[in-house]
Amino acid sequence: MTALPPARILAIETSCDETAAAVLENGRALLASTVASQMDIHARYGGVFPEVASRQHILSIVPVVEQTLSQAHLALGDINAIAVTRGPGLAGSLLVGLNLAKGLALGADLPLVGVNHLEGHLYSAWVYDSPPQGGNAGETPPPEPQFPLMALLVSGGHTELNLMEDYLKYKRLGATLDDAAGEAFDKVARLLQLGYPGGPAIQKAAEEGDPAAIHFPRAWLEGSWDFSFSGVKTAVLREIKRLEDEGKPIPVANMAASFQAAVVEVLLNKTLKAARQFGAKEILVAGGVSANKALRQAFQAQKEFPMHIPPLSLCTDNAAMVAAAGYFRFALGQTDGLEIDVLPTWPLS
Ligand code: KG4
Ligand code: ZN
Repeated sequence: MTALPPARILAIETSCDETAAAVLENGRALLASTVASQMDIHARYGGVFPEVASRQHILSIVPVVEQTLSQAHLALGDINAIAVTRGPGLAGSLLVGLNLAKGLALGADLPLVGVNHLEGHLYSAWVYDSPPQGGNAGETPPPEPQFPLMALLVSGGHTELNLMEDYLKYKRLGATLDDAAGEAFDKVARLLQLGYPGGPAIQKAAEEGDPAAIHFPRAWLEGSWDFSFSGVKTAVLREIKRLEDEGKPIPVANMAASFQAAVVEVLLNKTLKAARQFGAKEILVAGGVSANKALRQAFQAQKEFPMHIPPLSLCTDNAAMVAAAGYFRFALGQTDGLEIDVLPTWPLS
């Protein structure tokens, strides 16, 4: 890390339903970050409505970037490169961010770095708060994650285990065969009529419930590093149907807690097993589902491996993580030309 050059990155993220910008120094120190969420707008549709998302990004992106620069007390002339999420995500939404990033790069004569959103999530673990006003002045930065690192990515669209061997070097071990963990939370929340987004709603309902009340199945998929969450979702549906047929009330809190426990147990055990088998020094968990309290407690309770899990504000979509990944790409000479296009489907490795 000390060998890498200092640089200030301005990053833009518009892959889904958050319009976000951030300024980050040297891949870790977060000077400013803005996230304009569209959640309330999409909640009425029960999920993200792509056309509405693009339109909202168009309305929000310029004010979001301006506010972020002003919070950092910086102008474009103080920035060394523009990073932007290029994919995966909604094509129309990605285009809004990429086009603004290209315009800024061209206008200010700055290098452009297209970032993979999944890589961004992983690099959220590098970021720490460092406001220009000195709110955290003098605070020692948290330890930097050490390679080889076993990285579990759990978001709304992806669940995968990667061995991070070095900066920007990934060995994909396995991924979900069906629903992503976040998708399972969202679908089960819908079954339990808890609303959207489902993850936080399940977590809240689960606080009043007993995680051992109902034994939902765990898909271990022995012999592979893949995951599957459609079975547990179907088991929840079957249990609801059974209770309804018998005219019994649905124990929502117990079902939420038991479902959450089943998902967390599989994620934790498989990650630990992979970390041992591949000789990882540490474990990293990132993505929207890493905001889950039960998951954080379970991973933090194990003492076998040092743990990196981003602060809550960096678990769900944000631009600080895009700036962090963008910094390492920039520092290692991996910049892009202005001709790059969005990549709505773009695997990490
Ligand atoms: O990373 P993210 O913000 O967006 C994607 O890149 O997909 O992840 C969103 C997902 C949603 O499925 C949401 O329900 C889930 O993360 N999520 C949670 C929690 N907060 C967000 N899942 C469980 N517990 C939470 N507290
Ligand atoms: Zn995300």
